Amino acid sequence: MIDKINALKARIEGLTAANDAEVEALRVRYLSKKGEITSLFNDFRTVPADQKKAIGQALNELKNFATERINALRDAMASADTGLDGLDLTRTAAPMRLGTRHPLSLVREEIIAIFRRLGFTVAEGPEIEDDWHVFESLNFAADHPARDMQDTFFIQRSPDVLLRTHTSSVQTRVMEKTQPPVRIICPGRVYRNEAISARAHCFFHQVEALYIDKNVSFADLRQTLLYFAREMFGPETKIRLRPSYFPFTEPSAEMDISCDLCGGKGCSFCKGTGWVEILGCGMVDPNVLDACGIDSKEYTGFALGMGIERITNLKYRVKDLRMFSENDVRFLDEFIDA
Ligand code: DAH
Repeated sequence: MIDKINALKARIEGLTAANDAEVEALRVRYLSKKGEITSLFNDFRTVPADQKKAIGQALNELKNFATERINALRDAMASADTGLDGLDLTRTAAPMRLGTRHPLSLVREEIIAIFRRLGFTVAEGPEIEDDWHVFESLNFAADHPARDMQDTFFIQRSPDVLLRTHTSSVQTRVMEKTQPPVRIICPGRVYRNEAISARAHCFFHQVEALYIDKNVSFADLRQTLLYFAREMFGPETKIRLRPSYFPFTEPSAEMDISCDLCGGKGCSFCKGTGWVEILGCGMVDPNVLDACGIDSKEYTGFALGMGIERITNLKYRVKDLRMFSENDVRFLDEFIDA
């Protein structure tokens, strides 16, 4: 009997089936009421008492083994139905296509890296702000047009909760908590209530820089700007400062760089002037220092702010601002090697 069991086991081990019907035939042949294994159980009655235990155990094992084997064949048929048959699942997958870094991220990182080399560290602040941090502390008059709903997205009125319109709000947040020396660079997203077009968007990105210490002068600002412009746009780049006005700086200026398309001769990109505007800057107004708890008699500082989209446009000539937020992979792929 034990030989019969072993022979049957060996046979069952080698079973194969080509389809569901064949699996079912195997089940009938071995496990049904009239199946070979069932009939061995019938013969069990004739086994001498002293062998009953061992043979009973072997029979039960054989039955379990056959059940498992036939179930496995049935499972194999089921997975073949899903089309997995013949697939080598251990094969190395085809190379996966990696995404690219967004041009605005690339340029932001480059700006940060340049200022890091001058000892600036990154500071960040919230996009949802209050009037104090965005306007009041920065010396905006009560009737300044930026406080109008036409320019600013308000989430709530009195007390005002709004989306920051510039990253200058991070200046206030840092100055309130830190005494000089302060040397920070603040990248972030800002919001303005503008109609979306090729040249304007209701959200965009800025980088703000702030340096406060004893004896910080306009010459420090100018040298920092020159260093930044040459690192960003090449060693031949020239800069020029034009007087301007911002509530939080005095004096204030706007910086232009020489147009690298025409080399300063004048072209359609620079509207014939040979210069393109890239940022606003100035010496921090003493009112702002005092409002933020820094003694304006002891300390001076400079600040500057630029749009990341603007710098990116100058570097990569993106014609339509909307492309930055549409996530069209054909556009993003252009920056694969940038
Ligand atoms: N906050 C200004 C804006 O959004 C940019 C700016 C100008 C920032 C001059 C500055 C600055 O720090 O000194 O247009």
